[in-house]
Amino acid sequence: MNPAPVLAPDATVAVIGAGRLGGVLARALHAAGFDVRGPFGRGDEVPESDIALLCVPDASIPGAAAVVRPHTRLIGHVSGATGLADVDFGIHPLQTFTGAEPPVVFHGIGAAIAGRTPDVRDLAGDLARALGAHPFEIDDTDRAAYHAAASFASNFMLTVLDAAERLALAAGISPTDARALLAPLVRQSVDNWTAAGAGEALTGPIVRGDEVTVARQREAASDLDLHDLFDALAAGTRSIVRKADA
Ligand SMILES: NC(=O)c1ccc[n+]([C@@H]2O[C@H](COP(=O)([O-])OP(=O)(O)OC[C@H]3O[C@@H](n4cnc5c(N)ncnc54)[C@H](OP(=O)(O)O)[C@@H]3O)[C@@H](O)[C@H]2O)c1
Repeated sequence: MNPAPVLAPDATVAVIGAGRLGGVLARALHAAGFDVRGPFGRGDEVPESDIALLCVPDASIPGAAAVVRPHTRLIGHVSGATGLADVDFGIHPLQTFTGAEPPVVFHGIGAAIAGRTPDVRDLAGDLARALGAHPFEIDDTDRAAYHAAASFASNFMLTVLDAAERLALAAGISPTDARALLAPLVRQSVDNWTAAGAGEALTGPIVRGDEVTVARQREAASDLDLHDLFDALAAGTRSIVRKADA
């Protein structure tokens, strides 16, 4: 019988995929004391390692796993949306990475972990803790909802902020000034939501029932072709108000 996998402090970790997350993760694993190989790009020779971490797009995970399997003991991926069909464990850092972040970017964040066996899941948890992150478990059946939550919190929030920036530009405020002026409002809203949820944190014309102002805002948004986004967000906001009033 194989011994239970244990995360040795000097384990060799090969990072496969040199994109936005791969480089940041390789630097952070090195800073945490691991013997890091890579990040490796497509077509690079695959090294021998204790652990191979696939930092490739989700659709490339099966192919990359098949290539590294003969060269490593354990394979993990860092995808939030993908199950464990092709790998031994998953470790999804709940953060956004553009590629330039320092290793401390992992400190204090959540990391969704999963493993084919309890031992391998525990190893994924140890890896998360070594990076300074807090591990929590996600089952394959819950991944779509979990990953959609992350997309709403990051990707779609940026879509909303971009609309705000465009509307501010229409009001004569430069993009740089708009981001600087709106950022305190965004931060306070996030702080209020963090403390008590959206129902408590909501302010503004919809929660006040000021439909005249809502209609004037919609007209300004329509001028920039933002009416569909405005309508979807207004409908979502009204449903939060109804739930809070119920
Ligand atoms: N970025 C984030 O904020 C973030 C956050 C959490 C989790 N993740 C996860 O991290 C993973 C990678 O995302 P990313 O944002 O870093 O993507 P990315 O910037 O597109 O980087 C992916 C890299 O993988 C390379 N690649 C593709 N197939 C490969 C293969 N078979 N062997 C070696 N390299 C290969 C790509 O090279 P080519 O350019 O040659 O295709 C590219 O450099 C995904 O699972 C994603 O869910 C990302």
